[in-house]
Amino acid sequence: MTPKHPSESLTILTDLVLPSETNPLNNLFGGELLARMDRAASISAGRHSRRIGVTASVNHVAFNKAIPLGSVVIIEAKVSRSFRSSMEIYIDVWVEDRQSGNRTKANEAIYTFVAVDDTGRPVEVPQLIPETELEKQRFDAALRRKQLSLVLAGKLNPHEATELKALFQ
Ligand SMILES: CC(C)(COP(=O)(O)OP(=O)(O)OC[C@H]1O[C@@H](n2cnc3c(N)ncnc32)[C@H](O)[C@@H]1OP(=O)(O)O)[C@@H](O)C(=O)NCCC(=O)NCCS
Repeated sequence: MTPKHPSESLTILTDLVLPSETNPLNNLFGGELLARMDRAASISAGRHSRRIGVTASVNHVAFNKAIPLGSVVIIEAKVSRSFRSSMEIYIDVWVEDRQSGNRTKANEAIYTFVAVDDTGRPVEVPQLIPETELEKQRFDAALRRKQLSLVLAGKLNPHEATELKALFQ
């Protein structure tokens, strides 16, 4: 399978925050943002693998900044590392100022998708070759995050989580 670069899975969703998508403080409802990020991640995983992708886990979400009603929200997702059948998707969320066009980073999240066949069985995906400095950093840390996610899901014995153990040695 030919390896791919993160830029090949780059997915950008740009949308507004409408009244029906806000909380009582008139900011974007967290669940709405999760759904938008899941959609972007799904497309990104599909672009990398050219397979059906299912959300296996949401490893990290940081709601650092509230996003007010009427904002222009830009969600950028791309594969940060692929393993055998799973892909880590790193998502950056930006808010665009309507007048200046300047972007402010609002949130970020990390999702894991698994490529599956028509019967839902995991299938192999292409390897990823990071290019930029940021892509390389995210690639290097992804194995640690995968092990943490598997330990928390009860799918990996902590004693076998070599990358995590290395952090404490
Ligand atoms: C995700 C799913 C396909 C994994 O199936 P499984 O039987 O656990 O398969 P495997 O054990 O072979 O794991 C497949 C891959 O998923 C990874 N994986 C499974 N659970 C994971 C988790 N919690 N976090 C990170 N990776 C996970 C495994 O490490 C493996 O990765 P690799 O092949 O790259 O090494 C299966 O659990 C599933 O279909 N879940 C439902 C998905 C879904 O419907 N999502 C939408 C929610 S509404």
